[in-house]
Amino acid sequence: MIEGKNLLDAKGVSVDFRINGKWLTALYNVDLAVKPGEVLALVGESGSGKSTFATSVIGLHSKNQARVSGSIVLDGHQIIGASDKEMQELRGVKVGMIFQDPLSALNPLMKIGDQISEAMEVHDVYPREKWENRTIELLKEVGITKPERVAKQYPHELSGGMRQRVMIALAIANEPDLIIADEPTTALDVTIQAQILDLIQEIQKKKKSGVLLITHDLGVVAEMADSVAVMYAGQIVESGSVEQVFENPTHPYTRSLLRANPSEDTTGDELYVIPGTVPSLADMDHSKDLFLQRVPWLADLAQEKVSDTPAEIEKGHFVRGNAWKDFSFPDEKTSKKKLKKW
Ligand SMILES: Nc1ncnc2c1ncn2[C@@H]1O[C@H](COP(=O)(O)OP(=O)(O)OP(=O)(O)O)[C@@H](O)[C@H]1O
Ligand SMILES: [Mg+2]
Repeated sequence: MIEGKNLLDAKGVSVDFRINGKWLTALYNVDLAVKPGEVLALVGESGSGKSTFATSVIGLHSKNQARVSGSIVLDGHQIIGASDKEMQELRGVKVGMIFQDPLSALNPLMKIGDQISEAMEVHDVYPREKWENRTIELLKEVGITKPERVAKQYPHELSGGMRQRVMIALAIANEPDLIIADEPTTALDVTIQAQILDLIQEIQKKKKSGVLLITHDLGVVAEMADSVAVMYAGQIVESGSVEQVFENPTHPYTRSLLRANPSEDTTGDELYVIPGTVPSLADMDHSKDLFLQRVPWLADLAQEKVSDTPAEIEKGHFVRGNAWKDFSFPDEKTSKKKLKKW
């Protein structure tokens, strides 16, 4: 690893998808960086482009269906435009991915132990004679108590939580510098969710890996992440340390997300619901602030064009556009300053 450098450095990343013969922009001009050992959370509603970004980092977009532009440098290697062979070498060793749905990522016809061995085979990090021991070790590491038995089983023979553990074992088999976890727990029940998140955190601390954690759950962000980037309609609208963004949420979308987040001291009745929905790709004009366009009482602010360069409102805390200066919720009677912590 190159010391003092970002592990992941994404600059001006855009992704267009071909949909019904037309190219539509799903991700626009995204800048994101993860330092070695850092946990960066990427948050935003469904359809905002989080997985599209993750898939760009592991180079898994189909070339016929997606155009990726900008720059994504992973530990000194440029991902955009890399050949399949180069990507295969980087995947696993530089970056490991934990997907939301382990069944789609695991091979249903292959025993767990063989899948983990195969992952090691691709990369040659471990010599063949060590694979079996390493497989058992890995399964133990992810909290599987009968690793010898599980190694001989097929994915469908395991529970959802166990499958997720197996996928984590696969993702870390070659000790990648960066782990991407895309909604790693949404398919699981609450107790197992907590265990899986603890496990990811434990591995991250032990191996000092960088983590890109994609989640809807702001409670998880507060607990696990060092920094956070908020994505709306394919753009980062705000980013900074977790402390900066949670203590001083500034973009109207960040403020809305936080206000809509159930926390221990709010009951369901009081919960704020963000009006409208994320626009469809065909309706996105990324030169404007798309969130303002969604919210009825912000129609006036929504007309302005927004610079592609976000404002740095405090060191390391970036916000897109400047409508936040005039933004307030309809029920806010006091000035924004007093309402920083609602
Ligand atoms: N392969 C694809 N082809 C066409 N459109 C796609 C493709 N993948 C994603 N999209 C579109 O891009 C937009 C962003 O989707 P994406 O899956 O990245 O969102 P997300 O933030 O991960 O949402 P979720 O929280 O539901 O996982 C959506 O409008 C989606 O329909
Ligand atoms: Mg997703």
